[in-house]
Amino acid sequence: MPRPDALPAELAIVVPTYNEVRNVPLIVAAVERALGDIRWEIVFVDDHSPDGTAEEARTLALADPRVRVLHRYGRRGLASACVEGILATAAPFVAVMDGDMQHDEAVLVAMFRRIIAGDVDLVVGSRYVEGGGVGDWDKRRAAMSRFATALANRLTRTAIGDPMSGFFMLTRSAFMAALPGLSSVGFKILLDIAASSPTPLRVAEVPFTFRARQHGESKLDGLVLWEYLQLLLDKAFGHIIPVRFIGFAIVGGSGVVVHFLVLTLVLQVLLALYGNVQEERWFAIAQGVAALTATSSNFFLNNYLTYRDQRLTGARLAWGWLTFNIVCGVGFLANVGIARWLYQRHNYIAAAALAGIAVTTVWNYAMSSIFTWRKRG
Ligand code: GDD
Ligand code: MN
Repeated sequence: MPRPDALPAELAIVVPTYNEVRNVPLIVAAVERALGDIRWEIVFVDDHSPDGTAEEARTLALADPRVRVLHRYGRRGLASACVEGILATAAPFVAVMDGDMQHDEAVLVAMFRRIIAGDVDLVVGSRYVEGGGVGDWDKRRAAMSRFATALANRLTRTAIGDPMSGFFMLTRSAFMAALPGLSSVGFKILLDIAASSPTPLRVAEVPFTFRARQHGESKLDGLVLWEYLQLLLDKAFGHIIPVRFIGFAIVGGSGVVVHFLVLTLVLQVLLALYGNVQEERWFAIAQGVAALTATSSNFFLNNYLTYRDQRLTGARLAWGWLTFNIVCGVGFLANVGIARWLYQRHNYIAAAALAGIAVTTVWNYAMSSIFTWRKRG
């Protein structure tokens, strides 16, 4: 007979953390208090937080074998952290809960009772159903959240009252069925799972009140909107084109706008200052400045948005900028070459130009993913 405390967990609570060093011990104590005789384990998934969250979690794990740590290095991302945490445990039921004490751990018991009844695949901790609430949220955030909810339900054909919730529990089999379809971008892991499930999930909702944060700060910033857009695009077109490429192409489009703005501006200034005697020379200079500005703007936007999970900083940023310029420089030559070749044969200016742009975008995307934002480790 195995010792009763050595029996495997029936419920795993996956807790993504980034800079939650003061909250991690509170979570373990709160779960311990709340869960009574349910056999649980906690999997902290930490992305190498600078505040030492992972070390703190390991200290707790040495005192309690039900506490486990998955320490990731060189990348970021809430959704991917949750996915990997779920995959790192054998428990037949899995919950995802924030690591900042904003979710009410006492609700895990009601969720567990509901899911072991066997007639639902997913139980969502919802801020909107009767008795739920959003705590001390400001009006603007509450309104934005409601709008995103309506959009999500339309686009994914799932009827979850609170599909943006980061607090839920599901069966392993429901998760495994959704796994191959997951996008794993951004914050919206529940929406991702619901939209990736091959058969509609049977859902129950349990109300809870979103608590205010006591320690640390939120990592949700203005970019969640961009990430949300990426997720929706990936759900709609991801089986045809990788979502990162869509982001890269959108940024590329913004570069065209930047190019023309800078070109016009610089050209006007040069003409105003020196007159139009050497107009061709001024054009060449303006074109060069515009190209460099547009390439740099693309580089920083891609680093900020498209490659958010692998963002370059410090010396890597400088090196990345250099390689990106080289990649785009070669891409530019290819662009002109192809467009010219097509134009000579067929004489369609627009078609030739578009083909040049398309080939260059693919080239820049592929090469910068190898040389500029190459995976570490
Ligand atoms: N491993 C890892 N990696 N964890 C992360 C990352 C990351 O890149 N970013 C955030 N986390 C962790 C935080 O440490 C926290 O435990 C949890 O994910 C939620 O992050 P918060 O930054 O506290 O999010 P929030 O409170 O603003 O947003 C919450 O409400 C949203 C609904 O509006 C979250 O529950 C969201 O998932 C939810 O969509
Ligand atoms: Mn939070």
